[in-house]
Amino acid sequence: MNRAITKALLDHYDREHRALPWRGCSDPYRILVSEVMLQQTRVQTVLAYYDAWLERFPDVEALADAETDEVLKAWEGLGYYRRARNLHGAARLIRERPDGGFPDTYARLRSLPGVGDYTAGAVASMAFGEAVPAVDGNVRRVLSRLFDEAEPRASWLRRKASELLDAERPGDWNQALMELGATLCSPRSPRCGACPVVEWCAAHRAGTQEQRPAASVKAKPKKLRIELAVLEADGRFMLERRPSQGLLAGMWSFPEVGAGGSVLATIAERGLVATAHPAALPLVEHRFTHLHATYEPWLVTVATPDEGEGRAWIDPATSNDRAVPVAQQKVLALAHGHTAVASADPGALL
Ligand code: ADE
Repeated sequence: MNRAITKALLDHYDREHRALPWRGCSDPYRILVSEVMLQQTRVQTVLAYYDAWLERFPDVEALADAETDEVLKAWEGLGYYRRARNLHGAARLIRERPDGGFPDTYARLRSLPGVGDYTAGAVASMAFGEAVPAVDGNVRRVLSRLFDEAEPRASWLRRKASELLDAERPGDWNQALMELGATLCSPRSPRCGACPVVEWCAAHRAGTQEQRPAASVKAKPKKLRIELAVLEADGRFMLERRPSQGLLAGMWSFPEVGAGGSVLATIAERGLVATAHPAALPLVEHRFTHLHATYEPWLVTVATPDEGEGRAWIDPATSNDRAVPVAQQKVLALAHGHTAVASADPGALL
């Protein structure tokens, strides 16, 4: 039965698969980049970044040679920036390898930063033809339905994925499973009528496909309200480099008002002098994995744009080469709009 399932799905993949830029190539670097970008991001979004990334960093050496700021800037907007830092770290480790070559087995890939079971399996199978499975969220859903297993454990998934694996074409097989999950075998309203393996699907037979896999009880994300000091001087806004650890590490953002602090104290701590009262800008919401942040930005004009280590004054009308997280970009746009209105019509905001 396994052989029949494998053949039916691979035939379907050969006929129907989406043409994506990382498919049909065996360059491990390009495949690794695509898989890391796809870890938490939809294909459509990745397509907007992938070619630009490869133009900027065409190979391991180019990425290893780049500065962290350049790498984060190229990743700007993709989110989960730790992925970019890990990819950068992986490129530097690969460059230092004694033989200078790309790690070419599942086990060697697995030891790179940011490369887990899934990514190591995906790259080993697609770039090197190693017969190892690659179980991501889509594959988990497909297997859970195919065998009507409500709560599939990692070891069960690996075993089932290994049993079905096509040893001749492991990379295509892994992508065929993912592709089925991404297209027909969707979380809600799967299109079973068009599925090439429906005749073997135990959940379809039992009518349980919509309940497979069972919904996991997720920890509720923490809600956090974060006041920001949006400091403006001469039409430019001050950003600071964030610490190298923690949320949005190494990126550039507005100063945060610490617990128990105030906007004016935050300004004074930086040796700056406010020349107007803080004005409230609209709230900006942003969802991180385990955190729902509500940014509460306060716009304050300060006397002089004092430069300093880890500090940058940004003109929002021109592009800048620092990596700024999406929520902070929204705040910057709001602040820019606000000051533009205020200077065009000084009475408008009074
Ligand atoms: N998601 C993760 N890896 C993928 C791939 N190689 N093709 C399409 N979607 C994916």
